[in-house]
Amino acid sequence: MSELKSFSMNRASDKLSLENEDIAIEVKDWNLYYGSKQALTGVNMQLPRNRVTAFIGPSGCGKSTLLRCFNRMNDLIDSVSVEGTILLDNEDVYLKSMDVSALRRRVGMVFQKPNPFPKSIFENVCYGLRLQNIKNKQLLNETVEWALRGANLWDEVKDRLDDNALSLSGGQQQRLCIARAIAIKPEVLLLDEPTSALDPISTLAVEELIFELKKEFTILIVTHNMQQAARVSDYTAFMYMGDLVEYTDTDTLFTNPKLKQTEDYISGRYG
Ligand SMILES: Nc1ncnc2c1ncn2[C@@H]1O[C@H](COP(=O)(O)OP(=O)(O)OP(=O)(O)O)[C@@H](O)[C@H]1O
Ligand SMILES: [Mg+2]
Repeated sequence: MSELKSFSMNRASDKLSLENEDIAIEVKDWNLYYGSKQALTGVNMQLPRNRVTAFIGPSGCGKSTLLRCFNRMNDLIDSVSVEGTILLDNEDVYLKSMDVSALRRRVGMVFQKPNPFPKSIFENVCYGLRLQNIKNKQLLNETVEWALRGANLWDEVKDRLDDNALSLSGGQQQRLCIARAIAIKPEVLLLDEPTSALDPISTLAVEELIFELKKEFTILIVTHNMQQAARVSDYTAFMYMGDLVEYTDTDTLFTNPKLKQTEDYISGRYG
């Protein structure tokens, strides 16, 4: 009996809580508009360092839009205007003086469809390093191996680094894109539906990878797959029509959501 009790007490104290986290990104009163159409409304949230945070919600609710705010990818869309504040390590991401290229090195991104460059596997992974004018061959070699190991791809490609990346399978290409993203050692990794184009085995490989990578990176992942959110994330944010509806630790969101709207969505009753 007492053993049981202490077990459940341990469980309770193991429970994740944002209050106990080291916060990497803070979003305050964040609005985003495409022209006159508002796509994000009053988003407030804190994203914890070295954790995986999942974003779920129906198509068009603003998940990708919000993800792109963190490295100012939305700057590339002319009609976009924003209001509010996003802090990365207490630094205002939207300050005029922010060096956006440097920001994108700190906040890397992997897209839904694997998009390797039509270059060798090696050149894909060291692409970001070459952009930084790094020429030291040993450093390039070491970083490529580190990133490919990190992306759980090294063993499959170590003997064919000069092959064209387009000769890899879809799952390998996506892990290559993850290797390319981590090679420049970002602080934050944005993953927008990274497994939606992958078969179940590659999906599992990427999920295991995410679990490993959070030791070094803060990870934000958009997924349509609720089992995946439940498997890989520590925290989950449910969005609906541009609103952040509910955001809490993943266990609570999936087992004991506060709002009926969240419960309806996660139980598939959304219509
Ligand atoms: N470049 C754009 N120009 C105008 N409107 C856009 C643009 N990109 C997205 N939107 C609109 O903003 C809203 C949010 O889109 P977003 O792509 O962020 O949704 P999402 O949650 O990622 O959806 P999905 O699950 O389908 O990927 C949608 O109404 C969409 O039509
Ligand atoms: Mg999207």
